Amino acid sequence: MVNTLPADTTMGFLERIDRSRLPAHVAIIMDGNGRWATARGLPRTEGHRKGRDSVNDVVRAARELGLAYLTLYAFSSQNWQREQSEVSALMNLLHEYLETERATIMDNAIRLASIGDVERLPPHVYDRLRVLERDSAANTGMTLTLALSYGGREEIVRAAQAAVRTAGAGGGGAGAIDEQAIASNLYTAGMPDPDLVIRTGGEIRLSNFLLWQASYAELCFTETLWPDFSRNDFYEAIVEFQRRRRRFGMTDEQIDELGKSRA
Ligand code: IPE
Ligand code: IPE
Ligand code: MG
Repeated sequence: MVNTLPADTTMGFLERIDRSRLPAHVAIIMDGNGRWATARGLPRTEGHRKGRDSVNDVVRAARELGLAYLTLYAFSSQNWQREQSEVSALMNLLHEYLETERATIMDNAIRLASIGDVERLPPHVYDRLRVLERDSAANTGMTLTLALSYGGREEIVRAAQAAVRTAGAGGGGAGAIDEQAIASNLYTAGMPDPDLVIRTGGEIRLSNFLLWQASYAELCFTETLWPDFSRNDFYEAIVEFQRRRRRFGMTDEQIDELGKSRA
């Protein structure tokens, strides 16, 4: 394998990124806000507030790099089980985010999208989300997807139900349900699968995130808590991604052949 990384380790992570081999889709599990706050004697919600700066930093970095898709896991189906006070603080932060970042999103041609059972969100959040999704729908710079009230299993169940309905209604029966029939009924229909999934906060698990879509994603875990995660950490994860050899079940030799035939 050709190592495309320059040997000079004094180079910053940004300079080490090969712009011709960027991941099309990066997804991030933004974890560690509560611990960041607790370690400072602050309420957990202060960690969520500080985490918003990391969101802004990473969204700008991704846009500047020219990524096509960035997906952020902001609130899981299971997070509804948290204390009511934490859930409402998160919802208020989300509401604020959709207001304050509107100009940046529009000025940078970002298309805002969401995945998850967003109808469960309180109306003040849901309405703003739908407005910004609608207003930014024609933007072509980068698709920023927020996973809100999102669960991978819930999404797969929902997609399977839809596929069964189609298959039953003159769609060829159960045998007609293939991967495409499921994928096209996921919230992410039309989006490429994530190439890279990053999780901050030290836990080595997926916590119900993009279970179907991440089947061949490269996974990158960091101890850094989300509020401490900077654009440089983001660049570092992309450099790490570019170091990996993706085989998709094939051999190195087959991958080399494929590369040659595509060149
Ligand atoms: C991630 O941070 C944000 C959400 C899940 C909403 P946490 O709130 O899970 O922070 P920790 O993991 O408890 O530190
Ligand atoms: C995953 O973090 C969900 C989000 C980052 C939104 P959690 O903090 O909810 O995950 P667990 O509970 O540690 O698995
Ligand atoms: Mg957590």
